[in-house]
Amino acid sequence: MKSSIPEMVLNDGLRLPVMGFGTSGLKGNEGAAAVESAIRTGYRLIDSAYNYENEGTIGEAVRRSAVPREELLLTSKLPGRYHEYDKAVAAIQESLYRGGLDYYDLYLIHWPNPEEDRFVEAWQALIDAKKWGLIRSIGVCNFLPEHLERLKNETGVLPSINQIELHPYFNQEEQRRFHEEHNIATESWSPLARVQDILDHDVIQKIADDQNRTVSQVILRWHYQIGAVSIPKSSNPVRQKENLSIFDFSLSENQMNDIAALTTEDGRIQNQDPAVYQEF
Ligand SMILES: NC(=O)c1ccc[n+]([C@@H]2O[C@H](COP(=O)([O-])OP(=O)(O)OC[C@H]3O[C@@H](n4cnc5c(N)ncnc54)[C@H](OP(=O)(O)O)[C@@H]3O)[C@@H](O)[C@H]2O)c1
Repeated sequence: MKSSIPEMVLNDGLRLPVMGFGTSGLKGNEGAAAVESAIRTGYRLIDSAYNYENEGTIGEAVRRSAVPREELLLTSKLPGRYHEYDKAVAAIQESLYRGGLDYYDLYLIHWPNPEEDRFVEAWQALIDAKKWGLIRSIGVCNFLPEHLERLKNETGVLPSINQIELHPYFNQEEQRRFHEEHNIATESWSPLARVQDILDHDVIQKIADDQNRTVSQVILRWHYQIGAVSIPKSSNPVRQKENLSIFDFSLSENQMNDIAALTTEDGRIQNQDPAVYQEF
């Protein structure tokens, strides 16, 4: 039952597999079956969020699974409407109740919502929830360097991880450099750019042909080689396995550069720039 995914160590000591499983849209009985299948396939890090309304589904999959809870790393996220300290604490507790869990391994602030400007207060709630044993490791999503600086200056605590939109069309080179300089791990959301047209991209297709791999595998290997934790979502057991099978080949420097060159300034999938975009 042991998983063969390599691990990395976060700045607070938590060991994290370098690939996890995305669950956006996976709900109810079908969703629980998909998550249980992912665990059986070898995924140990499961991404979820209060706003996906599937923390209960994840909890159900965990209870159905033969893998013990302690071997899994479960993530959830605080919605933008609950950044006020007391509301944040209650939302973390509610997330636990929904999942039927005693603790989350990772809990993240979902969006900074800079216009509201309460993310430091939310961060304080995560810091305290970690002290109370409700969360093992605390992080954020979609935080720009200026938001991370605020956390550092106003609480003295930097996140263990920042989950950001990252794929070949938007490779976040500068943001990743900032993370490296501050010992914050990078996690890639929509690592496959939600597939759309990327599976037909001729540059990646050529690399896939040369490597005798699929386009998805090449993209996920690229995430691994740039040092980012990817969390591809798939409801399909065959594609779940395909996505996980990337630890027995490597991309050359030229191939890495060819993929990096696909990035453009407006490469975000839905133009969700955290400097202005807000989500509640
Ligand atoms: N923090 C944030 O703000 C944020 C934002 C967005 C997403 N996320 C997280 O990141 C996770 C992943 O992102 P995502 O779900 O947006 O997109 P994604 O993982 O890039 O792509 C998912 C899509 O790709 C398809 N797919 C997966 N593997 C495939 C393969 N090998 N071949 C062909 N198609 C494949 C899936 O279809 P099938 O299911 O049919 O296989 C699904 O339609 C989410 O589920 C969520 O947990 C976080």
